[in-house]
Amino acid sequence: MGVAFLFCASTIGRAQTNDLSGPGMAAIDSGLGGRLFDNWYRELHIGFVPDNETTPEPDGEGGPNGDGTLNNADGKPILNTGHQYRFKNLFGWDLLGNAGIYGRDHQKKPFVLASGPASRRESREVWIQRLSQGQGGIPSYGDVLTGIQIAAIVDFMLAMRDGEIPARGEIWQLSSEAPNGFVLMDGGNAERGLEIYKERCANCHGADGTAILFNDGEQNLGLHARYYGYAVAMKILSGDPSTNMYAQLDDLNREEKVQHLKDLLAALCDRQLFPRGLATDPEVPDGDPRCGAYLR
Ligand code: HEC
Repeated sequence: MGVAFLFCASTIGRAQTNDLSGPGMAAIDSGLGGRLFDNWYRELHIGFVPDNETTPEPDGEGGPNGDGTLNNADGKPILNTGHQYRFKNLFGWDLLGNAGIYGRDHQKKPFVLASGPASRRESREVWIQRLSQGQGGIPSYGDVLTGIQIAAIVDFMLAMRDGEIPARGEIWQLSSEAPNGFVLMDGGNAERGLEIYKERCANCHGADGTAILFNDGEQNLGLHARYYGYAVAMKILSGDPSTNMYAQLDDLNREEKVQHLKDLLAALCDRQLFPRGLATDPEVPDGDPRCGAYLR
């Protein structure tokens, strides 16, 4: 049942592109919840431009107040403090809030909330209610998202919390010494990863990952994996919001997904095979701990 609903939601979300049969697109859009978690307004094209965090007044577009803010549970606007109202920023990619990758011992993002869905076991109903109505620093998303969309986000978060979606502890782990607070875990095979890359990614990202630049030209795929391997794993699993990149490993079972992710990340840690190209961010130096022994 949930499956049929998710399919509907994705039809709504991508009405403009209507690209439901594109390459890499499984019959059921399993990645929707993850993409909404990543960036709901980009995925949905609903005219929401978040309040600019560098100015004191609310000055975005859309949302319940028409100014790019969302409200708290009492109906008062929450200004953007850099979280952009994105779930991944409020909770962190690992759903641990301040104890996780965006928290005090790692990336020290000032806007991350004290805790997140992985901090303690709470029910689906509790989380649906919390995201719909708001609570603490969590805005009332019910003003901008449908019940189906909120359910998709909650299902994604709880699946990750419960280990159904491979993430922290399998692909990467927290490290307070490494830049960006993570290291990739071993067990990946770079040669196999290169073959997987050629089969599944090279079409779009180019033979050496340099065909698509993102983050305003700062990064390409190889560089991104070496800087933010944890986020790359999530993008591969769910897709990139509002692009033609959907969930990429949906034909595989859970164990195969884990191995594919490790292999792909191992391959992307090769600075010769996946060079910096025209990206403007600097290359990671020799000995950078994030890629561990995969760094070439
Ligand atoms: C159908 C084309 C297509 C395929 C296949 C594809 N991608 Fe993408 N990918 C894109 C596009 C387009 C973007 C968005 C670039 C942008 O933000 O403008 C993207 C973005 C990404 C990002 C996100 C970068 C960010 O902004 O955070 C990652 C990571 C990524 N791709 C990895 C992969 C990997 C690994 C594979 C293979 C398993 C893959 N992609 C397969 C087209 C594709």
